[in-house]
Amino acid sequence: MIRLGVNIDHVATLRNARGEIYPNPVQAAAFAELGGANNITCHLREDRRHIRDADVRLLRETLPIPLNFEIAATDEMVGIAAQLKPHAVTLVPEKRQELTTEGGLDLSQGTSKIKAQIQSLKDLGIFVSLFVEPSVKDMEIAHKLGAEAIEIHTGHFCRDMARARSTVEAWGHVQILQKAAQAAHEHGLQVHVGHGLNYTNAQWMQVVPHCEEANIGHAIIARAIFVGLPQAVREMKALLNDTAFLPSKERSPCLTSSVT
Ligand code: PXP
Repeated sequence: MIRLGVNIDHVATLRNARGEIYPNPVQAAAFAELGGANNITCHLREDRRHIRDADVRLLRETLPIPLNFEIAATDEMVGIAAQLKPHAVTLVPEKRQELTTEGGLDLSQGTSKIKAQIQSLKDLGIFVSLFVEPSVKDMEIAHKLGAEAIEIHTGHFCRDMARARSTVEAWGHVQILQKAAQAAHEHGLQVHVGHGLNYTNAQWMQVVPHCEEANIGHAIIARAIFVGLPQAVREMKALLNDTAFLPSKERSPCLTSSVT
């Protein structure tokens, strides 16, 4: 079974847009759990544009399911994580100007600091994951840095799948994720995926080997406007785990009609 981590950042975005106290992301986490979310993900950004410190504290105190705390690899954020002691920390790159996280961590150089941060979090019993590009080389580096899991950045995959014009082309994009996931598994890393996944592409995660967890936010919160959050979560969990949605090699009913 692929676990579904529901990212509630966008509930906080909506709250903050009007300077209100609603909708409350902590309440959203409870509704997501009602729909079958296996864990809750939130990203405390340096600029606090959506989730705020008080939200994370309340989530930590009240959540009956694991909290996956997404943070940049900075001293401030690692210090907050060390105080909060969430179930898991996912280290992500962060740029002030970006609309959302644009890619995986750059593991090509200067990794001694992140290695020490990973160790300090692990020493506190926190499970540490790194958000990385689907690159076989990065899986080896993530392992050497001491990470216990990687979250493969699926943003480019989702964009490419939306533009795919043939099943062969679509499977080519899938293969990139498959190779990265296999390499991660061979290095002893748990395989997670996330970013850009929605109700037209998440079913493909079933063919990503060893995929244990998908972290999904925007599509679920957007669908919740029409069907309610528990139902939006139920639908996504079904898509991630029901083989009825599994695309076949020959014909892919899950792709948009423009794909032949
Ligand atoms: N995983 C990571 C590491 C992210 O940064 C994000 C976005 O905050 C997500 C998953 C969720 O992405 P989306 O909102 O596109 O589902």
